[in-house]
Amino acid sequence: MSLTVYRRAHFNAAHRLFREDWNDEKNKEVFGKCSNPNYHGHNYELIVGLTGEVDSETGYLIDLKILKNLIKDEVEDPFDHKNLNIEVPEFEDLNPTVENIAIVIWNKLRKRLDKKFDISVELYETPRNFVIYTG
Ligand code: NI
Repeated sequence: MSLTVYRRAHFNAAHRLFREDWNDEKNKEVFGKCSNPNYHGHNYELIVGLTGEVDSETGYLIDLKILKNLIKDEVEDPFDHKNLNIEVPEFEDLNPTVENIAIVIWNKLRKRLDKKFDISVELYETPRNFVIYTG
């Protein structure tokens, strides 16, 4: 019997979507307001899901304190109140779209969690725009 537990988290971060090989006009045409050369912020809402078997001894899928601390170490501490383009190495050469941020988060969590869990990353860039990545 498999089940999914979820943990919500939140971070604020600044970004700019652009390609260096395109001029400002082309970047604006493709990425709109998110290509503002002076950056802008979003309030990101993150929901991490872990799917697996409930441990019959504890009744837990995972101790949620472990998941909470993992999200803090891998997402909140490195991303919160940061400029993603400038301060987060993963986005040095990767456009920080909500798609790519979700993939980066999933990869970071995958490295730290037991293979027995399936991971889903649901990331909201705005209340209406979000992605779900499951690997
Ligand atoms: Ni944006």
